[in-house]
Amino acid sequence: MLLLLESVLDAADLALVGRELAQCHWRDGARTAGSAARHAKRNEQADHSRDSVRALGEFVTRALDRRDDFQIAARPKRLSPILFNRYRDGGHYGAHVDNAIMGGEAGGQMRSDLAFTLFLSPPEACSGGELVIEEAAGEKRVKLPAGSAVLYPATYLHRVEPVNSGERLAAIGWVQSFIRSAEQREVLWDLEQARLAMAQNGVATLRIDRAIANLLRLWAEL
Ligand code: NI
Repeated sequence: MLLLLESVLDAADLALVGRELAQCHWRDGARTAGSAARHAKRNEQADHSRDSVRALGEFVTRALDRRDDFQIAARPKRLSPILFNRYRDGGHYGAHVDNAIMGGEAGGQMRSDLAFTLFLSPPEACSGGELVIEEAAGEKRVKLPAGSAVLYPATYLHRVEPVNSGERLAAIGWVQSFIRSAEQREVLWDLEQARLAMAQNGVATLRIDRAIANLLRLWAEL
């Protein structure tokens, strides 16, 4: 399941992020690619060894964490540090799969169950730059308004189309979920949506509350 998260950042947030990124130091993005993906990657990445970039990442993480839809879809147990990347002058990232195991936010390792891309520049700021996710049913091409994000299972191959004019800015990150299986997360998502609709219509949700709680007991990895 791909989930669109609209307006994770508002205009004021985007202005703040844009000001910070304009001043930061950018490095070759291939440094953080897995060995198999390195040859496919041509972009730049904000130097996240700098405190200002890490603080900006934490700002983005807090904005995501406040979202009920993110919590319900991802069931986050661990988050990666946020990476900021920039594509221009033909920059692209060919089809690749993200590392399954990577460094987590609080140090230590994490498993990448889900990935997200938060668009920081508007679609019209560059030509190309679509995130293309290769699902079994076909390709999904994603290019969102600034401030919106897409959340998807990290199990898919994906790529970023070449940016031949203008500039594409994005924040990316990964989630280790309490629920490892994408299929199980989707069942829980559907039940949560049903619960919400029932509650809005004044229908008692006690049995569905119990079903969700008991599925979490069956499936959650703590
Ligand atoms: Ni990737």
